[in-house]
Amino acid sequence: MTTENTIPNLTLNNGVVLPALGYGVFQTPPHETAKVVATALETGYRHIDTAASYFNEAGVGEGLRASGVGREDVFVETKVWVSDFGYEETLHAYVKAVAKLGLDYLDLLILHQPLATMFDRTIGAYRALEQLYADGKVRAIGVSNFQLEDFDNLADATEIVPAVNQIELHPYAQQKPLQQRHAELGILTQAWSPIGGITFYPGFMSGETDDTQRSTLEDPVIGEIGSGHGKTPAQVMLRWHVQQGRSAIPKSVNPGRIAENFDIFDFSLTDDELDRIDALDTGASAWMASAEMDERFVSFEIPEA
Ligand SMILES: NC(=O)c1ccc[n+]([C@@H]2O[C@H](COP(=O)([O-])OP(=O)(O)OC[C@H]3O[C@@H](n4cnc5c(N)ncnc54)[C@H](OP(=O)(O)O)[C@@H]3O)[C@@H](O)[C@H]2O)c1
Repeated sequence: MTTENTIPNLTLNNGVVLPALGYGVFQTPPHETAKVVATALETGYRHIDTAASYFNEAGVGEGLRASGVGREDVFVETKVWVSDFGYEETLHAYVKAVAKLGLDYLDLLILHQPLATMFDRTIGAYRALEQLYADGKVRAIGVSNFQLEDFDNLADATEIVPAVNQIELHPYAQQKPLQQRHAELGILTQAWSPIGGITFYPGFMSGETDDTQRSTLEDPVIGEIGSGHGKTPAQVMLRWHVQQGRSAIPKSVNPGRIAENFDIFDFSLTDDELDRIDALDTGASAWMASAEMDERFVSFEIPEA
């Protein structure tokens, strides 16, 4: 296991640099977060992705301080939840986030998802991100789960092109039209569920696992490619993201898997292997927007620090 930062870097549209491979903490229990974040940093990760709605920002900050790694050496990203959308509300969401994290600036602050049926509040929230950026409180701003039409609506009412759109992206859900749009606009594609977590963990987004659900970890093509390199399916998928220039933020609370997911810098996939993984796309995505979902999500409040 390497303890060096051997991760290739990516450069955002404002010149800010981040490591291509990061570490996510969705569904990481708050009481475990400090420990696993410190483990990830000791392993060599230098980019952590959290969110107000994960309720574990405090643990991320604690793990960062416990690791002994310098603040300026770690790229910290968090998300504003939709109940905090609106200009003033989002300015305050920043205050809550940095207080929980115990930090005095963020590397990247993104909107967790659009409020498709209340887009004016999404615009207000994004304008607050622009203000935070202008004030030097965040080094970059972006969005998550934005769909094609959301970018037009955003551009009509705001100034700064988002640096990042964090979207569901794994071999079975590649969102190619969205990736194409990101490339045209200069937005970095950041993959959530990069090893297809949503295809195998039971959860509120994927619904309960059933007999028809296919796990990316058991895909025969990915398995065969991995066997040829002496690598696991998770490692193949993460290598696929990094070789195609995306940011990927796998989550694990298991030290062995935290190390496994980081051990992807000593092999390369061939063009043919990349094509075979590209061909696994189903065109599907678990993401769905609806007035009912928006109503449900906005009622879910983020506590004060
Ligand atoms: N913006 C959004 O709406 C959104 C939505 C979802 C996720 N995210 C972000 O993206 C990050 C990653 O996505 P994700 O957590 O959905 O999915 P993921 O990283 O693709 O997969 C995580 C799941 O895979 C397991 N796992 C991890 N490494 C493994 C390995 N090497 N072999 C086998 N199983 C492994 C984990 O279990 P163990 O922990 O037990 O290892 C967990 O169940 C999140 O943590 C979060 O930061 C954002």
